[in-house]
Amino acid sequence: MKILITGGAGFIGSNIADAYLKEGHEIIVVDNFSTGKKENLSNQVKVYSVDITSPDIANIIASEKPDIINHHAAQIDVRKSVADPAYDADQNIIGSLNIIAAAQKAGVKKIIFASSGGAIYGEQSYYPADEKHPTDPRSPYGITKLTVEKYLQFYRWTYGMDFVALRYANVYGPRQNAHGEAGVIAIFCEKILRGQTPVINGDGKQTRDYVFVEDVVACNVAALNPSVSGIFNVGTSVETDVITLTQKLIQISQSKLTAQHGPAKAGEQMRSCLKPGALQTIKPASFETGLQKTFEWFSKQTKS
Ligand SMILES: NC(=O)c1ccc[n+]([C@@H]2O[C@H](COP(=O)([O-])OP(=O)(O)OC[C@H]3O[C@@H](n4cnc5c(N)ncnc54)[C@H](O)[C@@H]3O)[C@@H](O)[C@H]2O)c1
Repeated sequence: MKILITGGAGFIGSNIADAYLKEGHEIIVVDNFSTGKKENLSNQVKVYSVDITSPDIANIIASEKPDIINHHAAQIDVRKSVADPAYDADQNIIGSLNIIAAAQKAGVKKIIFASSGGAIYGEQSYYPADEKHPTDPRSPYGITKLTVEKYLQFYRWTYGMDFVALRYANVYGPRQNAHGEAGVIAIFCEKILRGQTPVINGDGKQTRDYVFVEDVVACNVAALNPSVSGIFNVGTSVETDVITLTQKLIQISQSKLTAQHGPAKAGEQMRSCLKPGALQTIKPASFETGLQKTFEWFSKQTKS
């Protein structure tokens, strides 16, 4: 199949691109390289350096005519979305609509969308959240992810263009950006490898459901199947607090560092945990295995 991946030079998108190439698909990447990196991309991929909000998107999709669009490009920083909701909405809602409308006109069969369980369910009323859990996003970023799911439903009802929305937990693994706001594991791997003290925000008892990128990629492969449609969680059902994850990382690294605590981040969600969705047919990687592989990758990066 011909698959166009938006955000394909980023952490999750580039891991998906590699897996799709291995399965023999033809891959086109659309990315503005705001956080994505050229070195994440295989030379078998055709690349358009363009923003998803650009009017050029319609021409690219009309001329390439992909069978499927996998939409991962987004403004991913929750704090930035709070500071500037209009910018966040422009990137994540208007940019997504630009892709979706062009896809419908070009006869694309399906859109696979990177949604966010952690951001959409808000403070949960039960743990782990399944897909029936009420949605109550507490940030502009979460509002945009839920809004795009609604637009995808509209396009399916109105034009019959199919979609799969994958509601990710906290994804971690090789190629995650250690300098953004999104990934505590990436940030702490790099800090430990540089011999710097990891600083935990607040008491460190806030929990997240950390899902390894290989499990996320497997769901994006499963989502290509024409019989797969709708909304699916991608998580592990396992909650881990920041103190525990920091200890595990320090243990893996055999470092002598001890973590310190800094001020708590105002408004930070306390708990989040997702029940794996029906696309996760194999048991997710254990946190220890995922952390080990992630730390080894960061270790190689630091040495090279
Ligand atoms: N990492 C997580 O834990 C997590 C959790 C839930 C959902 N998601 C979603 O998964 C997707 C990928 O996230 P990631 O962690 O790989 O982040 P990332 O920053 O590594 O990847 C985003 C990619 O999109 C590109 N991009 C950003 N804005 C763009 C624009 N306007 N036009 C074109 N390209 C643009 C970036 O250059 C980058 O390559 C995002 O949609 C994010 O919201 C991630």
